[in-house]
Amino acid sequence: MKLFIDTANIAEIKEIAQLGILSGVTTNPSLIAKEKRDFKEVVKEITTIVDGPISAEPVSEKAEEIIKEAEELVKIHDNIVIKLTATEEGLKACHILSKKGIKTNVTLVFSVNQALMASLAGATYVSPFIGRVDDINQDGIKLIEDIADVFTIHDIKTKIIAASIRNPLHVTNAALAGADIATVPTKVIKAMFKHPLTEDGIRRFREDWESVYQK
Ligand code: E4P
Repeated sequence: MKLFIDTANIAEIKEIAQLGILSGVTTNPSLIAKEKRDFKEVVKEITTIVDGPISAEPVSEKAEEIIKEAEELVKIHDNIVIKLTATEEGLKACHILSKKGIKTNVTLVFSVNQALMASLAGATYVSPFIGRVDDINQDGIKLIEDIADVFTIHDIKTKIIAASIRNPLHVTNAALAGADIATVPTKVIKAMFKHPLTEDGIRRFREDWESVYQK
């Protein structure tokens, strides 16, 4: 399973990109708004840091308007992927954009049927939102598992991005459930490194070394 970073913050993307663990970036209107900068400028800057799919989301609601926005966004860089909502207008836009060879990521997916229809409309990626499903007392990982099963049974090539990741266990379980990608916020990526035994082991190596070589 590949890792994307789920942020529009340039400093965070630069910091994590140095580790060599990132294959792409996802943004959404809320993440872009947090940066209080020009949308296209932020997206353009991201394309200079990570050489992989960069999801950018039009904010229009009607397919015709979404397509106009998408056509401007894809001019920024070849790696731009157009994020579309799992709605009738979103899928209409997905169908037209995918016929034009534009890569798409259908977002706000909360059911197998939404994922299935997105794939039929030509989506390159679908993004089921694990955390938001868990928030309403349902099982987000089970949703990933079910979508992965349906895609495998029917040989559907659309890639599954596990989104709305809240903790490191979501990442492990998304990988086990068959997600192709997990898009992970910076805070969770940092938590994925943490293990008390690693920290204890480093402390013990240092103490043993210093007891002999730095008396
Ligand atoms: C995915 O592409 C979305 O940007 C993201 O994962 C949304 O997650 P949230 O529920 O934390 O807002």
